[in-house]
Amino acid sequence: MPKNLNDKCERFLTLAIESSCDETAAAVVADGRELLSNVISSQIETHTLYGGVVPEIASRQHLTNINDVISSALTEADITIKDIDLIAVTHGPGLIGTLVIGVAAAKALALANDIPLVGVNHMHGHICSNFISSKELIPPFVSLVVSGGHTNLIKVKDYTEFEVLGSTRDDAVGEAYDKVARVIGLGYPGGPKIDEIAKKGNPDAIFFKRVYLNKDSLDFSFSGIKTAVLNYVNTERQAGRELNTADIAAGFQEAVVEVLINKSVDAVKRYGNEKLVLAGGVAANSRIRKALAQKCEQEGIKLHLPEKVLCTDNAAMIACAGYYKYLDKGEDDLSLDAYADLPF
Ligand code: KG4
Ligand code: ZN
Repeated sequence: MPKNLNDKCERFLTLAIESSCDETAAAVVADGRELLSNVISSQIETHTLYGGVVPEIASRQHLTNINDVISSALTEADITIKDIDLIAVTHGPGLIGTLVIGVAAAKALALANDIPLVGVNHMHGHICSNFISSKELIPPFVSLVVSGGHTNLIKVKDYTEFEVLGSTRDDAVGEAYDKVARVIGLGYPGGPKIDEIAKKGNPDAIFFKRVYLNKDSLDFSFSGIKTAVLNYVNTERQAGRELNTADIAAGFQEAVVEVLINKSVDAVKRYGNEKLVLAGGVAANSRIRKALAQKCEQEGIKLHLPEKVLCTDNAAMIACAGYYKYLDKGEDDLSLDAYADLPF
């Protein structure tokens, strides 16, 4: 039994740190699922200047912000570091130069205050955001994980046991949103911009092919649709026709969402206890949330959606995943390292 779990009746407090990409975040979570604070310092404004995340600049900003973000998380939770029972930190996958900053900060705090440390897989964190938003949710279930770097269908067998059922063979969904946004001149960050403008467009005005691969496969492919949008834009420009950006965004989004939904329902029917859990930055997308809710209602599937603030990168989800990992596997030692690639 890991330290601290049975020897007191107070709440078990986890401080988590997340720095895998362009958000410096820290959070305090009680008993794995109750949010006491959730501080996120976004670098979007800085990276907008360059049209995307510049890793070296991201690392420098994490370094500047991380101590203040951690202090704010403790202050907002109305506690001090002495009250913390566990420190959880994202140690991959992500940008290596930004991950090492979070890992170094977590190790220093753990060592200086004699607190157990646990390294967390960022993608496990995304799924665990749902344990905070849906207090009644328990495994097993199927999760659709859609982020800037990943698109997966995952069978969540237990809090720390994950099986990959399907993955993208090329681009991730978030990556496709970001690339299409650039092609149609919306800029960075593309996902939220397409989400907004698509509300004003007609999703049936321009048809983009839905890519299912073979019938039984739970894999995805999104690089074709990005090229299809690029070809459409070039053809229209060459013909001297004005682009209807809202219709392009809506047509692209509809093609992507239809495939995500049909494959997810298929996965739930094959593997899943009638429960579907959405996770990752793209889970903030309003069309995906609405269309999934409708489809799941028709199919008799119980859908769980994380609150929007817990969809994109945050440390609360890392605290939750870290808590369950600690219960199951115990602490990591101070040789904990960061990894740009870390499998599910
Ligand atoms: O999970 P996340 O914050 O970072 C990664 O782990 O990758 O996901 C970021 C991705 C970006 O590609 C961003 O464009 C996309 O999530 N995203 C959205 C929306 N909000 C964020 N995509 C579509 N609609 C949104 N509302
Ligand atoms: Zn993420």
